[in-house]
This record gives sequence, C-alpha cells and structure tokens, in this order.
Amino acid sequence: DIQGNIYDAIGGYKKIEELVEAFYARVGKHPKLTPIFPDDLTETARKQKMFLTQFFGGPPLFSQERGHPRLRARHIPFEITPARRNAWVDCMTNALEEASIEEPYRTVMLEKLSMTATHMMNTPENEK
Ligand code: HEM
Repeated sequence: DIQGNIYDAIGGYKKIEELVEAFYARVGKHPKLTPIFPDDLTETARKQKMFLTQFFGGPPLFSQERGHPRLRARHIPFEITPARRNAWVDCMTNALEEASIEEPYRTVMLEKLSMTATHMMNTPENEK
C-alpha cells in the first residue's frame, strides 16, 4: 500500500533528513514548544530521523537502537497539552512544505503524523 512505500517514494533517507532539520529549526523557535525541548536538538533530531525512517516504511533504524517505539510512554515525562500538540503539527506542516515533499505524500504523511500527535496528548490545557 501507499504508506509502505512513502519512504522510497519521497527520496529515502536524504529527504527524511531534510524534513527533520526543517522541523526542529521550527520547534527550537516555537514559544509553546521550547519549554519542554532541550536547547540542543541534535540528539532529538538524530532519533527522529531514525524513527520517521521506519514510520514511513524504511528500514527499522529506531527499533534497532532503541527497541519498541512505545511512543506514548516515552512522551509521558513531558506535559503535552492540546496547544502543544497543535504547535507540533504546525511545525511539521511547514517543514513538509519547506522540504518540498510532493502530493499525495505530503497529505498522507501529515495525516499519519497528526493522528500520532493527537495520541501523545497527556495534559489538559487548563493545567498549563
Ligand atoms: C521525543 C515532544 C509528538 C516522536 C520527544 C521529546 C519531546 C517531545 C519533548 C524529548 C526530546 C529529547 O529529550 O531529546 C513532543 C510533542 C509532541 C510530540 C510536544 C506533540 C504532540 C511526537 C510525534 C512523534 C514523536 C507525533 C512521531 C510521529 C518522537 C521520538 C522521540 C521524541 C521518536 C525520541 C524518543 C526517544 O527515543 O527517546 N518528543 N513530541 N513525537 N518524539 Fe515527540
């Protein structure tokens, strides 16, 4: 199916790197996100390149190094409110455009990432 081939279709690891660099450049400047991310995003970006490679059908780089993704559990230490979820999705929307990922892949990728982002929420807005 289309999802299994996205990694190859968009240009493989080079394109994932471009996307992740564009994404964390935005995260590092977003007032809703900087409070929960480290100042130096090098290591965060490295893990995300491995994760998105496997998420979009490439080799399982993340699991080879880090084990089962358990993404929601890995995010529990961070207060992820609806506003932070939306900020994350906004950064990703713009990064997909900056990395010139073409349709139909751009929309399919954003939908899959947005659904996963919704699943990461763990803190109601009024508690922040
Ligand atoms: C790690 C925030 C959604 C994938 C992290 C970290 C933070 C964070 C603060 C730790 C960074 C570090 O210490 O280096 C958020 C927020 C989200 C979100 C606010 C909004 C909903 C997502 C989504 C995905 C994702 C949708 C995947 C599609 C990852 C991965 C890591 C990570 C792979 C590294 C985990 C590890 O190996 O330790 N995230 N995240 N995140 N995030 Fe997210």
